Amino acid sequence: MKKIHVSADREYDVLIDVDYLAALSDRAQGHARVAVILSESMKDRIPQLEAGDCEFFYLPIPDGEAGKSAAVLAQAWNWLGAAGFTRADLIVGIGGGAVTDFAGYLAASWLRGMDWIAVPTTVAGMVDAAVGGKTGINSDYGKNLIGAFHSPIAVLIDPTWLTTLSDRDFAAGLAEVVKCGFIADGEILKLIGSKSLADIRASRELTVELIEKSVAVKARVVSGDFKESFDREILNYGHTFGHAVELSSKYSLRHGECVSIGMAFIAYLSEGLSLISPELSKLHIETLSRLGLPVTYKGAEWPELLAAMKLDKKSRGNTLRFVVITEIGKTQRLENPIESELIAAYERLSQ
Ligand SMILES: NC(=O)c1ccc[n+]([C@@H]2O[C@H](COP(=O)([O-])OP(=O)(O)OC[C@H]3O[C@@H](n4cnc5c(N)ncnc54)[C@H](O)[C@@H]3O)[C@@H](O)[C@H]2O)c1
Repeated sequence: MKKIHVSADREYDVLIDVDYLAALSDRAQGHARVAVILSESMKDRIPQLEAGDCEFFYLPIPDGEAGKSAAVLAQAWNWLGAAGFTRADLIVGIGGGAVTDFAGYLAASWLRGMDWIAVPTTVAGMVDAAVGGKTGINSDYGKNLIGAFHSPIAVLIDPTWLTTLSDRDFAAGLAEVVKCGFIADGEILKLIGSKSLADIRASRELTVELIEKSVAVKARVVSGDFKESFDREILNYGHTFGHAVELSSKYSLRHGECVSIGMAFIAYLSEGLSLISPELSKLHIETLSRLGLPVTYKGAEWPELLAAMKLDKKSRGNTLRFVVITEIGKTQRLENPIESELIAAYERLSQ
């Protein structure tokens, strides 16, 4: 078992390669009531939990983004109220990023902030969503528009969950792992080397090591910059273009797939601007495609993608803003690159 410490609005540990049932019952001790939030499709996979005199309550919510809604949240508030949850009780979110985002926001909003624990069950949840304290739900006007920074008291990562994850979701989560490699830890890229998705899935040891290194990157960044100035922005490598793809594809692609396309775009753009070598650009494309991730996008014309990027929250005012690298582990901000270079990158991506 590995332990990575996060120091943000609160101090907490991310436990990696842990038996989540044992760790959870350990941490539930001392709380009178524990609310377990989980998705409908996962409810049969979680046994009745036990811990001292603790009373466990279970609330299944709709799968994926459908669960992250104001209507479901209002139901959950009523459910907590009816069960008499106080600030001394505990909330636990067991599921993918959608469930832990929801559970965290439920904890942030009930009684102005309760303790909560994240038990992520997807790669994306383990390396990204559950670590860093961002919680929230969607609004009719967009994803994640309602939310709060509210760190959990612990994150329990049990890789056994991943055996049932689809290849598509596994690969989508690995896009964030690759991102951590490029922005902060070249060891990650070395570990992936020329391995395929199947090679990584076949090795629990390698999977755990990649998760651990990626969590360490995120923990380091959010510990230094909890509420997102530039340090935290480096985690958005590939995301400015990725969000535009997400929007134009009407969320039919996984977030990680969009980030993969976004990293391919930024690699082409950076190569065009001579910020990185053609070899480093090629490393992006080869690594991502070997993992089964998309590195081309033909779903929208350039003007639509440009308009979507200008709406992105990382573009302030009229400034179009990207995170770029100049070498592995070295990030900088790129503002308003000339449009002919943006178009040239788009053309390579959409071939
Ligand atoms: N808070 C943050 O900092 C942050 C960061 C990144 C993403 N997110 C959020 O995370 C969400 C995406 O997370 P995700 O990629 O985990 O998607 P998800 O939570 O929608 O889960 C994807 C699918 O996998 C299923 N699933 C979950 N665990 C499984 C398992 N072990 N075996 C089989 N199926 C399983 C889910 O039921 C769902 O159908 C988005 O809502 C996104 O906004 C938040």
